[in-house]
Amino acid sequence: MKCFRLLALLLVLFVLAGTFMSILVHSSQVNSTNTSVRCWDRERQALLNIKDELVDTYGQLTSWGNHDDQRDDCCEWRGVHCHNRSNHVTQLNLGFSQLRGKISTSLLELQHLRYLDLSYNDFEYAPIPKFIASLTKLRYLNLARANLSGPIPRRIGNLSKLVYFDISYNDCYSENIDWVLSLDSLEHLGLSSTNLSKATNWLQALSKLTSIKELYLAQGALPETPPSLLPKINGSAPLAILDLSSNSYPSMMTLFRWFSNFSSTGMRSINLAGNSIAGPIPDVFENMMSLEYLDLSQSDIQGGIPKYFGNMSSLTNLVMYGSNLTGDFSELIMNLSGPVQEKLESLVLTENNLSGLFPNMSGFSSLMQLQLERNQLSGSIQEGHLQLPHLDFLALSSNRLTGPIPDLSFSSLLGILYLDNNMFNGTLTQRIGSLSQLLVLDLSFNSYLEVKFNPYWVPTFQLSYLNLRQCKLGKYFPAWIKTQKELEHLDISNTGISDILPSWFVLVSPRLIYLNASNNQMYGVSSLRDALVPHSRLRATTLDISRNKISGSVNFLCYVQEWGLLDLSDNLFASQIPDCFANFRWLRFLNLANNHLSGEIPISFGSLSALTLLHLRNNSLSGELPTSMSNCTSLEMIDVGDNRLTGTIPDWIGDSFPKLRVLVLRSNAFYGSMPSSLCHLANLQILDISSNKISQVIPKCLQDFNAMATDLNPDPFSSPWGTLQVPSDYTWEMSNIKSFQSAYFMWKGMEVKYTNHLGLVKLIDFSDNSLAGEIPSGITELVGLVGLNISWNNLIGPIPPDIGQLKSLNFLDFSRNHLSGGIPTSLGNLSHLGVLDLSYNNLSGRIPLSGQGLTFPASAYVGNTGLCGRPLNKSCPGDESYQDPNSEVNGSNVIKEGESEDDRFITEGFYVTLGLGFIIGFWGIIGTILLNKRFRYTFFEHLDAIGKTLWKYFQNQ
Ligand SMILES: *[C@@H]1O[C@H](CO)[C@@H](O)[C@H](O)[C@H]1NC(C)=O
Ligand SMILES: *[C@@H]1O[C@H](CO)[C@@H](O)[C@H](O)[C@H]1NC(C)=O
Ligand SMILES: *[C@@H]1O[C@H](CO)[C@@H](O)[C@H](O)[C@H]1NC(C)=O
Ligand SMILES: *[C@@H]1O[C@H](CO)[C@@H](O)[C@H](O)[C@H]1NC(C)=O
Repeated sequence: MKCFRLLALLLVLFVLAGTFMSILVHSSQVNSTNTSVRCWDRERQALLNIKDELVDTYGQLTSWGNHDDQRDDCCEWRGVHCHNRSNHVTQLNLGFSQLRGKISTSLLELQHLRYLDLSYNDFEYAPIPKFIASLTKLRYLNLARANLSGPIPRRIGNLSKLVYFDISYNDCYSENIDWVLSLDSLEHLGLSSTNLSKATNWLQALSKLTSIKELYLAQGALPETPPSLLPKINGSAPLAILDLSSNSYPSMMTLFRWFSNFSSTGMRSINLAGNSIAGPIPDVFENMMSLEYLDLSQSDIQGGIPKYFGNMSSLTNLVMYGSNLTGDFSELIMNLSGPVQEKLESLVLTENNLSGLFPNMSGFSSLMQLQLERNQLSGSIQEGHLQLPHLDFLALSSNRLTGPIPDLSFSSLLGILYLDNNMFNGTLTQRIGSLSQLLVLDLSFNSYLEVKFNPYWVPTFQLSYLNLRQCKLGKYFPAWIKTQKELEHLDISNTGISDILPSWFVLVSPRLIYLNASNNQMYGVSSLRDALVPHSRLRATTLDISRNKISGSVNFLCYVQEWGLLDLSDNLFASQIPDCFANFRWLRFLNLANNHLSGEIPISFGSLSALTLLHLRNNSLSGELPTSMSNCTSLEMIDVGDNRLTGTIPDWIGDSFPKLRVLVLRSNAFYGSMPSSLCHLANLQILDISSNKISQVIPKCLQDFNAMATDLNPDPFSSPWGTLQVPSDYTWEMSNIKSFQSAYFMWKGMEVKYTNHLGLVKLIDFSDNSLAGEIPSGITELVGLVGLNISWNNLIGPIPPDIGQLKSLNFLDFSRNHLSGGIPTSLGNLSHLGVLDLSYNNLSGRIPLSGQGLTFPASAYVGNTGLCGRPLNKSCPGDESYQDPNSEVNGSNVIKEGESEDDRFITEGFYVTLGLGFIIGFWGIIGTILLNKRFRYTFFEHLDAIGKTLWKYFQNQ
C-alpha cells in the first residue's frame, strides 16, 4: 500500500516531468520559416514512416510534422537529435512515450543512429526486430519494458560498438548468449526478466565482458551452475552495479561471491532482494568499502545486522524490506554506529519484526529517507530523537507508537510523512505547518490524535495528499483545508465532524481526484450544486460522502462528467435521480443506497457502459426497471432491494449482463413469473428476489447457474476500473478501490456497509413470494450454495432427496410452504449447516438423526403434524416412550448462545474449506440478502459470538 503510494507519487512526478519536458521542447522550438531547415528529407520521411506505424494515444509525437511540409525541420522534433555538422539524425529517444504499434523498418534509413531508446512503450508482444542489428553505429540501445517477445536475435552481436544494451522486462529469451562476446565495449547490460534457462554457458560468456560496469539480471530464469563448475575468473571487469534480485537461484550467495570476485573495482550497488537469502548476513560485504547501495529485502535473515555495517563508510542506502529482522530496534541502530551513521541517506526496514522504543536517530545526520512501517515499535518518540535536517521521507506507519506526534520542524525539507495506523495521541501542534515542503501527510487511524486547528490557520505547505481518516477533528469542519489548493487526495472520513457541509470543499482544489468525507455527521441541504456549476470539469473522480446526514437533491451530480466512483449512500438525500447520466463514461461505481430518493430509475442509466456496481437499495424508487439498463453490459452487481419497483422481472436481465454476479431485487413489488432466462446468468452467485409477488413455478433450469454449481472460489470482483483506459493520474485511486466493492448487512437492526471478499458468497433467496409447484430437483446441483431460502411460498411436493449434496450449505430455510413427505436422511450430511428451518409444512415421518451430531431446535420442525422423534416432544409410532432429560426446557436441543454453539459452527473444517474470506464475505452480505427480516433475529442469536468477533474485525478495517 505504501509502496503503491510511493509509486503513485513517482508517477505523478513523472507526469509532471513530462509536462515540463514538453514545455522545454516547445520553447526551444525555432520558427522554421526563419531558419534554414537542417533535417535531411530522406530521414524526415523515414521518421514520419516510423510515426505512421505507431499509435500515439497520448500525443507524444504531435511535434512531428507531416509528409507534405518540406520546411519542417525534423531535427527539432521531440526525441530527435541531429549531428551538429552533418545534420544526420543520430539520436532517437522515444522512451516513456506510451506508444503502441509497430517498430517500422524505416528505422534502417537512419543509418547514422548512435542512440536508440524505445523503452517503456507497448509493441504488443512483437518480436525484437532483427533489422536493428544493421544499425551498426549504435552505441546505445534501450528496449526495456517495451512489451517485446521472443528470442534475442544473435545478430545483436553485430552491434560491436554497443556500450549500453538493455532488453529488460520484456517477454524475451536467449538460449545462448554468445552474442555478448563481440560486444567489446559493453558497459551496461540489462537482461532482467529474460529467460536464460537454456543458456548454460551464460557465466563463461559474461566473464569475458571486460568492460562491463552495470549488470542487471533480476527476475531471470538463470540456469543453475553448480558451485564446483563456476568458471574460473581470468580477467576482471570494473563491475560496480549488480542486480540479481528476485531469482529463485539455489545457491545465490555462492553466485554472488563469484560476481564480487569478478569485479576489479569493488561494487557500488548490489541488489539481492527477493532471493529469500537465509541465515546470518554473510561477511562478504565486510570489505566492500565502496558499497553505496545494498538491498537485501525479502530475505530470511537471522541474527540481524552485523556490527561491521557500522564501518561501511560509503553506504548511503540500506534496504531491508521484509527481511526477518527481529529484536530491539535500538540494538540494530547500535550496530550501525560508526562511520556509516553520517553517510546513510536512506534506511528502509519496512515490514520486519523490530520492537522496542524509538531510539535517538539524530546521529544519522545525512538521513533523507527513513521507513520503518509495519514493525512493532512502541512507546513515544522522545523530543530530539528525530532531529534529522535532511529528512524528506518519513514513514512509521503501522507500529504501536504512542504519545504526541514528534516535533519535526527541524526537518524543514520533509516532503512525505506517513504516521498512520499507530496510537499517537495528544494534539497535533501548529508547528507541523512550518514544514513548507510537505506534500503527503497521512495521520489516519490514530484514533486518539486530535487534529484541530483554529479556523484561520494558514500552514506553509501545499499538500497533494492528506489523509486524516479516523483522527479526532472535532465538531467543526476543518476550515484550514481550504488553504490547500493542490490537493489531489483528501480523506477526512470518520473524524467526528458534525458540522454543516461547506460548499467549497468539493472544489477545494482543481486537482482533486479523491474526496472521502464519509462517516461523519455532516448535515445541511446539499449546496454542492452551486459549487459545481462553474467548474463542471472538476476532476474529482471519486466522491464519497456516504454515511452523513446530508439532505436535499442529488442533482449536483449532473454538473460533472468525470465521476468514476460515486458514493452518496446513507444520507438524507430526497429527490428524484436526475436523468443526466448520458455522458458519464468513466462511472464504474454508483451507490445511492439508503436515502429517500424517489421517482423512476432514469433512462439515461442505459449509457453507463462502464458501470460495474450499482446500489440503489432502500430508497423509494418506483416504476419498472428501464429497458435501457440492458445496455449496461459491464454490470457485476445490481442491488435495487427495498424500493417500490414494480413490473415483471424483465426477460432481458438474463441476457444483458454476462458478468452479473449479484442480483438483488428483494422487497419490491415485482410480480409475474420468474423468467427462465435468469438461468443464463452463469456467473451469478447471489440471487435474491425475496419479498415480492413472484408467482408460478421456479424455473427448472436452476442447475445452469454455473457459478453456484461449483464450490470453487470465483475470481475476485473486477476492479471498478477494470481494463478501462484511464488517464494516468487516476492511478491515485487504485489503493482505495477496494472500499467501494461493498454490500450492506444488518447487525442487530443496524445497517452497516461491508467491504471485501464478497466474491466468495453464493446464495439463493426466493422467500416470501407466491411461488407454487415443486422444488426443481436441479437445485441440488448448486453445490456451492451457502444459503438457500425458499420459505413463505406455496411450494408443494417433497424436499429433493439428494439435498445432502449441497455440502457447503450453512443456512437452509424451507419453512412455511406445503412441502410433504419425509425429511431426506441425506440432510444429515450437511456438516456446515448452522441454521435449518423446515417448520410449518406438511412433512411427516421420523426426523432423521444427523450424521454429524448436529442438532437443531424443535422450532426447526414445528407445524408439521406428521413429524415425530427428537427434538420434537412426540415419539414416533412404535418407539418406546422416552423422557428427554431436558424436556422441561422448551427446545432442549436448541443450540444456545455461547461457546458450544460456536464451536460447532466454526469447526476447523469450516475455515479450511471455506476460508476466512468466505466467512467475512458471508457475514458481509447475509444480513440483508439471505435473511428475511422475520428470521434475522434467530439467526444472529444463533451465531452471536462469532459475529461479535467479526464485528470487531470490521471496525478495525
Ligand atoms: C514565424 O515567423 C513569421 C515571420 O516572422 C511569422 O509571421 C510567424 O507568425 C512565425 N511563426 C511562429 C510559429 O512563430
Ligand atoms: C528469523 O529470525 C529469527 C531470529 O533471528 C530466527 O530464529 C529465525 O530462524 C529466522 N527465520 C528464518 C526463516 O530464517
Ligand atoms: C497518550 O498515551 C499514553 C500511553 O497510552 C498515555 O500515558 C498518555 O496519558 C496519553 N496522553 C494523552 C494526552 O492522552
Ligand atoms: C444503448 O446502446 C446503444 C448502442 O451503444 C445506443 O445507441 C443507445 O442510445 C443506448 N440506449 C440508451 C437508452 O442509452
